[in-house]
Amino acid sequence: MIRRCPATPEDYRALARRRLPRFLFDYVDGGAGREQTLLSNVRDWSGICLRQRVMIDVDGIDTETRLAGQDCRQPLVLAPIGMAGMTARRGEVQAVRAADAAGVPFTLSTVGLCGIDEVAAAAAAPVWFQLYMIRDRGIVEALLDKAWQSGCQTLVFTVDLPMPGSRHRDARNGIGLPGLRPKVLKIGQVLSRPGWLWNVAVRGKPLSFGSMSAHVPAASDPDAFKRWVDEQFDPTMTWADIAWLRQRWQGRLLLKGILDRDDALKAVDAGADGIVVSNHGGRQLDGVSSTASVLPAIAAAVGERTEILVDGGLRSGIDVFRALCLGASGVMIGRPWVWALAGAGQAGIERTLAIFRDELRIAMALTGVTRIADIGPDCLVNDPRAASERN
Ligand code: FNR
Repeated sequence: MIRRCPATPEDYRALARRRLPRFLFDYVDGGAGREQTLLSNVRDWSGICLRQRVMIDVDGIDTETRLAGQDCRQPLVLAPIGMAGMTARRGEVQAVRAADAAGVPFTLSTVGLCGIDEVAAAAAAPVWFQLYMIRDRGIVEALLDKAWQSGCQTLVFTVDLPMPGSRHRDARNGIGLPGLRPKVLKIGQVLSRPGWLWNVAVRGKPLSFGSMSAHVPAASDPDAFKRWVDEQFDPTMTWADIAWLRQRWQGRLLLKGILDRDDALKAVDAGADGIVVSNHGGRQLDGVSSTASVLPAIAAAVGERTEILVDGGLRSGIDVFRALCLGASGVMIGRPWVWALAGAGQAGIERTLAIFRDELRIAMALTGVTRIADIGPDCLVNDPRAASERN
């Protein structure tokens, strides 16, 4: 039987589910706790109603913009995803090639499987690099230097991980747990996906954490490495560390994981060039607000002074349009690109990005705008500025 063609991120999700061992699919797909924040991230975008306008000349719609000083063919960036390379052979390299082909930036996670050297060598445009604050500041400094030397100009510094969230799906799959049972469970799941076993586990080697391997003895053993990383997240981090980082990093600095307007103000005061409004895709604290619901208040507080990106639950170009209406300059997408990578490799991500761009163009045409800069609260039925003033 010839399978139908994927047309949405959810279609790629279904493909990814068929291709990945269960523990990997759940790692990508899941969130913290009961996954209520994860669900509300997605749901709250779809509740934002667009204002249809007609009889306006919308010939020559242009989705191009600039994000962090970089030209983008649409206002979208691939979010940093740790261990994305476990879902497809040399996955981060496939992803950066897809991002280049589509003219959008790719963000490499600190804990990507492909290291910054490998990804930068495959890239046509500067790669964005994401960093966590690691207890050992020597490692942080070495990674900053390495990223800069490899041509990276934009650092995405993640601030919402003083400790890892509690993810029930990972626990059920025995991730990070000692003993025989988790091992046997994992082997069973891997054997039920021979395509993944051959393509990724065998032909995709080395399965180590590229950028970290010089610093961590256990980088070639994912379980041991996870334990090391979990201990290395620095719960003592404060704004003073951002001040240190600011003077240490000469490129653009985006702080990712801001969900509160007071923190947004502090981020700007600390010298960030931009923020990513994010709750880590609902993977950290279940019960915090969706990003769509906090974006208007944050945009009202700092939108004039800094660049705002947002992520979490964006599943279509129409959601991208909604985010721009609420005051973002651009968005990041996480799971949609990893589902596409797992389901159909580089071509899957390219197709996903084309779908997002087509949907964005349609949203622009039917709301009567032709340029990204013209998208704003006027394109919505209910002006969010009124709601954020009430808060
Ligand atoms: C993430 N995210 C993430 N963020 C980060 O700063 N560094 C990282 O290494 C990771 N790793 C990671 C792994 C997986 C499997 C997921 C799903 C997410 C968060 C990510 O960058 C982004 O904030 C969310 O994925 C956005 O939500 P959506 O688009 O996945 O709904």
